[in-house]
Amino acid sequence: MSELPGGVSQLPGYLDVEAIRSDFPALARTVRNGNPLVYLDSGATSQKPVQVLDAVRSFYELHNGAAHRGAHLLSEEGTEIYEDARAKVAAFLGAHADEIVFTKNATEAINLVAYTLTSSIKPGDEILITEMEHHANLVPWQQLAQRTGATLRWFKVLPDGRLDVDTSLITERTKIVAVTGQSNVTGVIPPVAEIARLAHEAGALLLADGAQLVPHHPVDVTALDVDFLAFSGHKMLGPLGLGVLYGKRDRLEALPPFLAGGDMIEVVRMEGSTFQPPPARFEPGVPPAAEAAGLGAAIDYLSALGMDNVAAHEEVLTAHALDALREINGVHILGPDTTKDRGGAVAFEVEGVHPHDVGQVLDELGVAVRTGHHCAWPLHRALGVQASTRATFYVYNTHAEVNALADGIRYAQRFFGARQ
Ligand SMILES: Cc1ncc(COP(=O)(O)O)c(C=O)c1O
Repeated sequence: MSELPGGVSQLPGYLDVEAIRSDFPALARTVRNGNPLVYLDSGATSQKPVQVLDAVRSFYELHNGAAHRGAHLLSEEGTEIYEDARAKVAAFLGAHADEIVFTKNATEAINLVAYTLTSSIKPGDEILITEMEHHANLVPWQQLAQRTGATLRWFKVLPDGRLDVDTSLITERTKIVAVTGQSNVTGVIPPVAEIARLAHEAGALLLADGAQLVPHHPVDVTALDVDFLAFSGHKMLGPLGLGVLYGKRDRLEALPPFLAGGDMIEVVRMEGSTFQPPPARFEPGVPPAAEAAGLGAAIDYLSALGMDNVAAHEEVLTAHALDALREINGVHILGPDTTKDRGGAVAFEVEGVHPHDVGQVLDELGVAVRTGHHCAWPLHRALGVQASTRATFYVYNTHAEVNALADGIRYAQRFFGARQ
């Protein structure tokens, strides 16, 4: 692997990356052909530090009781751990604990809102989304439109990948605006607070898809003034299987149940049932307290690093990646080529080499990236591209790894006889 002079220590001192890397067992392993793992796919799912692994293990070893169930100590401890994690998530976002609903992932959090809004939307109403959405923040809204007879509209994407915020699309017919906090392909960060202001002036709700925003930037839901914010714990050092829906208290209270069952009820008779207030209304079944323990530990870990430092570290890496890829003939970056209002997702095309071939060659070299349309097919279409290769960065990535990516792309070009 090529290195900048000084390697890891060359990074400006936002984060102690060497110390961080020693917390992530998976980063120490070798992969294909004995190469060290260069993990550039945190946008899909992040690696987990020992602090998170220990929290999950300790839950099962010591406290494995069903939270909010049972009269015994283990159940009580499970409840405490689960509710403690909720309080940590709330503090991380500047929210109140009863505004935090645990879901399976960001996808389920968005579906929860899209399904429970069904009875509030009628034919002639409009749902406004954007062309740059991940399918998780697109298909549920298409389905809501189909169920209700509402019309789906969308902000288009400009040729440089930024959002064309055409304010004429926000009218008194608009009932909900759903927009990503950061594109998982181009890294573009749309002006969510400004769009929320416009939506509210028109009497519409605003849902932000924070799957790529919350893990990488400081987020304050009051400053953004979003009604709903959805994200996944597994992209921010936490375990798989636990996501979050933040909702303003009155917005959550106005929604009917989504999934029904145990513990979300108040009174159940054979004739019918009444329901708990949020967040319990939206959390039927035995709660995922082990996953919550892990997410709580992930939030402690990120908070100790400082989200400003996390964002600054990624900005430096992204700037380096943009520079390094721009220098390679035949490589075209999707989206803005500066870090202004742009996070650490760098997708690109390599002229004459299919993204799957680029991905395979990189994998042989130990460099893990994502290839395809990254669940953002309309965005790729809008940018005139079939598919792309994507590198995403996180707290443990180094300049040397960015260089390994650039070297790997050059190698793929030579291997496939493509223009260099
Ligand atoms: C922008 C964005 N939204 C939503 C999702 C869905 O996240 P999950 O699959 O964890 O529900 C992703 C996942 O990659 C994403 O990048």
